[in-house]
Amino acid sequence: MTSWQTVTPILAVVLATAVVAPRPAAQARKQAIAHRGASGYAPEHTLAAYRLAMEQKVDFVEPDLGVTKDGVLICLHDDTLERTTNIAKVFPDAPPAQRGNGPRWLANDFTLDEIRRLDAGSWFDQKYTGLKIVTFQEMIDLVKGKAGLYPELKSPPLYVSRGIDQEQIFVKVIKQNKLETPESLKTTPVIIQSFDEPTIRRVAKDLPTIPRVFLTSKDEDVTDARLKELATFATGIAPEKVVIARHPDMVKRAHDAHLTVTSWTFRADEKTTYPSVKDEMSHFLYDLGIDALFTNNPDQFPRRP
Ligand code: G3P
Ligand code: CA
Repeated sequence: MTSWQTVTPILAVVLATAVVAPRPAAQARKQAIAHRGASGYAPEHTLAAYRLAMEQKVDFVEPDLGVTKDGVLICLHDDTLERTTNIAKVFPDAPPAQRGNGPRWLANDFTLDEIRRLDAGSWFDQKYTGLKIVTFQEMIDLVKGKAGLYPELKSPPLYVSRGIDQEQIFVKVIKQNKLETPESLKTTPVIIQSFDEPTIRRVAKDLPTIPRVFLTSKDEDVTDARLKELATFATGIAPEKVVIARHPDMVKRAHDAHLTVTSWTFRADEKTTYPSVKDEMSHFLYDLGIDALFTNNPDQFPRRP
């Protein structure tokens, strides 16, 4: 407890509530979040995908965050490198620990310099050959002041099992860039997301000015009691769209609990019962009333005045 909170407990509470993240109920303006950047058109988590997302006028750009061997936050969805890079070619002899049926090329087994040698573009399309995996800092430098940031702390339990404090590395980068200051939040809104409840509880304490959203694929996370509990440490919930489709009333119940509702993932390359991804997004935003969504196709986001 900092010195000013020892003044009087009541004073401490009053002051504490003054700087916490705003608790919006239903948000008027629906928000588009570029899922891994405009990943329907360019390789996920590359500067090309982030730039295109901003050209397509998104409100937020999503970086999924992993940690390198030398403790640097990188923009990467998977814990391993073989799906979105040529790691098998560049580092054919993976560290022995990773052989057999375990993950072969865990990003956390490689330093940033080693990861810089990888091609993170040609897997998606030859025209993107040579694109690099970028650090969270490089992503911030590109997006800051132009769009919002929606970082996901990926796989915290993996890093805990390796004695790495991913959340503290993240908090340090946010503070180094002053992204938690009310001034900065006006031009670069930030929303933190994770499937990991302990991580959301920690950022609620370490970065109280920044909204934080709990990701889930579980029906049991949208019960009344659970929504009320979530509202004690999160400012929003992000159920996978199938969960909302099964429990459409959860949107109103979450709003009543002062939680925003965001969903994922809306992508044009997915076969659905809707004529188009635009129709699917419209249904969730304007019929079911969610506040925001993750999409691979930001240019299809159905804006309404
Ligand atoms: O972060 C929202 C959504 O992207 C969650 O799924 O696996 O794409 O990170 P994933
Ligand atoms: Ca994500």
